[in-house]
Amino acid sequence: MKKETLFIAFSTQKGGVGKTTFTVLAASYLHYVKGYNVAVVDCDYPQHSIQQMRKRDGEMADTDMEYRRMAYTQFKQMGKTVYPIITASPDNAIEKVNEFLENDDREFDVIFFDLPGTVNSQGVLNSLSNMDYIFTPIISDLLVLQSSLSFVLSVHELLVIDPKFRLKGVYVFWNMVDGREKTDLYEIYEKSINEFGFPLLKTFVPDTKRYKKELSKEGKAVFRSTLFPADKKLLRGSNLEELLIEIAHIINL
Ligand SMILES: Nc1ncnc2c1ncn2[C@@H]1O[C@H](COP(=O)(O)OP(=O)(O)OP(=O)(O)O)[C@@H](O)[C@H]1O
Ligand SMILES: [Mg+2]
Repeated sequence: MKKETLFIAFSTQKGGVGKTTFTVLAASYLHYVKGYNVAVVDCDYPQHSIQQMRKRDGEMADTDMEYRRMAYTQFKQMGKTVYPIITASPDNAIEKVNEFLENDDREFDVIFFDLPGTVNSQGVLNSLSNMDYIFTPIISDLLVLQSSLSFVLSVHELLVIDPKFRLKGVYVFWNMVDGREKTDLYEIYEKSINEFGFPLLKTFVPDTKRYKKELSKEGKAVFRSTLFPADKKLLRGSNLEELLIEIAHIINL
């Protein structure tokens, strides 16, 4: 029997905590390494930062011999094309995706939604209510953390426990963890996360420069790209693969 297409969002109302980064990294890993059929919906109107990244990636791959060769080898080995990036606004995202799914012959395993950082809009809330799972990056900054947990709390109360929505769970995970400070601070925060009863992923993601590393003329190892998965050597110590394995298990992929 055909499995349902899963709708997933890395989401929180806080800006700059990794929503777009993890959307791209998860999509590229599942599509190019694990062989799933993935699509991405870029709803961060009007920035459309993922579509912009695809444009930059495409230009690099067109002009740089080595990236061109990499793209060709990948295409030959996988026998499939790059994943589609659909641009939408939070208001019409679900409608647009359903239309896309109806008109496309391929069967998609996962669709990732990159939503803007606000829940005060009906559009965002409507999109969130149509997700199967939400993953919320949190960072160890008191104000950011409070705002993130209040986001998770509203999503949980409004959407998760209401059976009329398909949303099955909202999970938090630590991002940008500074190795030197992984101390009491985290323990204190984790205590309050546990008191709320939010599921916290085991994997924490360290703060490391490679999360910013895109295709470039200097140095071919790539981390964040819509055309290639994160480079194997750069994966080590990034905890990205560990995080994605944990997520794949939760969403039952
Ligand atoms: N673990 C990490 N280590 C270092 N840098 C990181 C890490 N995670 C994310 N970043 C960087 O933090 C910045 C913000 O990330 P990103 O753009 O994904 O956030 P966002 O939540 O989508 O922000 P916005 O609300 O503006 O859309 C980016 O430059 C990204 O490369
Ligand atoms: Mg973003």
